[in-house]
Amino acid sequence: MLVEKLYENNELKPYELKELIEENSAEPSPKLLNAALSVRKKYYGNGIYFRGLIEFSNYCKNDCYYCGIRRGNVHAHRYRLTKEKILKCCRNGYRLGFRTFVLQSGEDMYYTDEIMTDIISSIRREFPDCAITLSVGEKSYETYERYFQAGADRYLLRHETANEEHYRKLHPKELSLKNRKQCLYNLKEIGFQIGAGFMVGSPYQTTDNLVEDLLFLKELNPHMVGIGPFVPSKDTIFAHEKKGTLNMTVALIAIIRLLLPKALIPSTTALGTIHPLGREKGFKAGANVVMPNLSPVGVRRDYSLYDNKICTGEEAAECRYCLDNRIKVAGFVPDFSRGDYYGMKSVHAL
Ligand code: SAM
Ligand code: FES
Repeated sequence: MLVEKLYENNELKPYELKELIEENSAEPSPKLLNAALSVRKKYYGNGIYFRGLIEFSNYCKNDCYYCGIRRGNVHAHRYRLTKEKILKCCRNGYRLGFRTFVLQSGEDMYYTDEIMTDIISSIRREFPDCAITLSVGEKSYETYERYFQAGADRYLLRHETANEEHYRKLHPKELSLKNRKQCLYNLKEIGFQIGAGFMVGSPYQTTDNLVEDLLFLKELNPHMVGIGPFVPSKDTIFAHEKKGTLNMTVALIAIIRLLLPKALIPSTTALGTIHPLGREKGFKAGANVVMPNLSPVGVRRDYSLYDNKICTGEEAAECRYCLDNRIKVAGFVPDFSRGDYYGMKSVHAL
């Protein structure tokens, strides 16, 4: 009943969302999964878009309690990549077929606007047919504008949790949910394709918090939604907390697909970390993006957001072919095009 209603209207009342989450969290029903698959098929067919992820710095000025590269972690071995090294990752990725590069880092103040816009415009010049996605945290409106003008198309900034009280339990007081949300609205206004999202099963998260997350996503209407299970990191105060579950994450992917039919939804590395077939299960719940790693093998282990992260020892080419194969075996079609949001063309696209 609720699945049909969500499928028809792409929205539900808060108490209905809560009921739907509770009914599906232990095991997502075939009805929910099939509805999500059919919606995704309508807009994106059976394709899974590939994005090449470049984790270019693990320095961070923030101290998010859940994150393995937080400022306070004295055990983290810090690194940052130069523009030349980043371009080399892009060249390697381009040869392997990638047409979207995702540049992700901690909030590293070394990368001033000048340095960052130089990196972005160099990638834009050398790879005019590629999309550039950034995931470098909270910045001012002006900085985001400069990134956009330099040639970036998309921006990933998970809101982490839409509930104030919950936000406070996950972050130190210098960070605020209000600013995080404002950044997302600013990015959208500037013209980025934006991605929001949250961790599933983060410490203190309640079902009501998840309902708030879904309502916020519906209101924001982002182009991309990244969710993945919380996975504890040994170097944080949440080291001994429980990780998020596969089934809850899969159920939420399916619900988000029905709420935001055209969203680009990755099946995340964190999901692949908590279950050997996690990413495949994500695709079968309506996810349609995968983000294999293009970072140099020598630094991959240092970008350790959580424990036992998969694919840290493989070369980019190995990850690319491994995922290609997994996608085919799961019955989907690898897609190496830019993969913009349905019906949308970036101003930077050729
Ligand atoms: N600094 C940027 C930002 O704040 O958006 C991008 C990097 S940040 C490490 C990327 C995402 O990793 C976060 O938004 C968070 O949801 C996720 N993450 C961090 N620690 C995690 C953990 N222990 N388990 C699962 N995901 C985690
Ligand atoms: Fe900054 Fe995690 S605390 S990236």
